[in-house]
Amino acid sequence: MLTPTAKKRVAILISGRGSNMVSLLEAARAPDYPAQIVLVVSNRPEAAGLERARAAGVPTLAIDHKQFATRMAFEAKLHQALLDARTDLVCNAGFMRMLTGGFVDRWRDRQLNIHPSLLPAFPGLDTHERALGEGVKVHGCTVHFVRLEMDTGPIVAQAAVPVLPGDTPESLGARVLEAEHRLYPHALRLVASGAARVVNETIEMVVPNVVPKTLFSPALYSAPET
Ligand code: GRF
Repeated sequence: MLTPTAKKRVAILISGRGSNMVSLLEAARAPDYPAQIVLVVSNRPEAAGLERARAAGVPTLAIDHKQFATRMAFEAKLHQALLDARTDLVCNAGFMRMLTGGFVDRWRDRQLNIHPSLLPAFPGLDTHERALGEGVKVHGCTVHFVRLEMDTGPIVAQAAVPVLPGDTPESLGARVLEAEHRLYPHALRLVASGAARVVNETIEMVVPNVVPKTLFSPALYSAPET
């Protein structure tokens, strides 16, 4: 059984509505979840997610990037806030701010991001529109460790959804978002429990993996007790 002190301390970075943040907050309520959410930071003070985090009783912080002369000054403030909260892991959840190499290096292998496509396909914005434009039949989402180049880095987990006839970017995006809400808590569990770790820029699973029965990979599993 994991003791509360063994839980990883997680900070979530947001810029907007924060639905993925909510899915992490909800997962972290389970007594056996290997992570606790200690801070939510938004670079936009008006982000709706801040209110949702407050309502859930989680400490929040708005660090308005517009108040800083340089990207590095903004990141210095953010870094200090993460240190003050004794953060072990950072989860970007709809955090719409490019990070410099200095920040990315400081949190190397300790910072995750969720992206609404099956990377390496469709990095960047408007992923659902572009997926429809390319006529792909399977689309999805990815949780990966953050590297300097946007939407790259070792892939922790992915979930796929079908593209259906008549899909619009909105209907496809809604299907992907639902998968995101299941995937991110799963991926954070893998990382926070130590089941998934970065080795030579890919993910090594230190628990035996099973053949996925769903369009999740690695398959949903229960971490062994440590
Ligand atoms: C999600 O689709 C996420 O994959 C992307 O930005 C969106 C954020 O949504 N990076 P929310 O703020 O979590 O609702």
